[in-house]
Amino acid sequence: MAENDKYNPLAMTLRYLKNFLGDRNVASIAPTSRATVRRVCSAIDFAKARVIVEYGPGGGVFTRHLLDCMRPDSRLIAIEKNGPFAKELRSSINDPRLSVVCDGVEKIVDILKDHDIEEVDYIISGVPFSFFSEDVRRQLVKDTSEALVPGGLFLVYQVNPEGLAELLSTAFEVGKPKREPLNLPPLCIYTAQKTAAAAS
Ligand SMILES: C[S@@+](CC[C@H](N)C(=O)[O-])C[C@H]1O[C@@H](n2cnc3c(N)ncnc32)[C@H](O)[C@@H]1O
Repeated sequence: MAENDKYNPLAMTLRYLKNFLGDRNVASIAPTSRATVRRVCSAIDFAKARVIVEYGPGGGVFTRHLLDCMRPDSRLIAIEKNGPFAKELRSSINDPRLSVVCDGVEKIVDILKDHDIEEVDYIISGVPFSFFSEDVRRQLVKDTSEALVPGGLFLVYQVNPEGLAELLSTAFEVGKPKREPLNLPPLCIYTAQKTAAAAS
């Protein structure tokens, strides 16, 4: 299935630092810890998931875990705006289930159309919502909800969670946020579910 390079946390942290210095939208100087990745992804029913989308994969710490857990016939669309990260993901992960798109998540509707995808089961997001304008944030949450199947989950991990619960609740039923104080930097995790009301 997947032919991935060996994950080296120190080398990966140096790449985050380098990419962050060239592009502040990278928003982190270190990859999310593997414990946090497992915690976020524990909400995913991998036996049922057919299409998963990742917003802001960076160096691919979630991407690799998702591919390790996914069914052989499922798909993962990873949308990364930073050129060096997208290039590195393409060259370091060789798996036919993965498509790396080098673009902004703001284009989610067109990206899914380009990949002939009508419904997504899970969307995992690390993109920095606080960096987007209010209009972009709202549109992204709306488009994300529309892309998901009824009951589908939007899993969001953020350094700055200010206003996020309110924003997500415009299109999702939002669970109580979980804190990850041991991640560097500390993160807040939200599980947002597309409800029947949002689906109709
Ligand atoms: C906080 S980092 C998370 C990286 C990685 N998923 C992790 O957990 O270590 C945020 C990532 O989102 C990417 N990003 C920021 N804005 C984006 C956008 N509008 N569209 C796609 N990716 C974006 C950044 O380049 C970066 O890789």
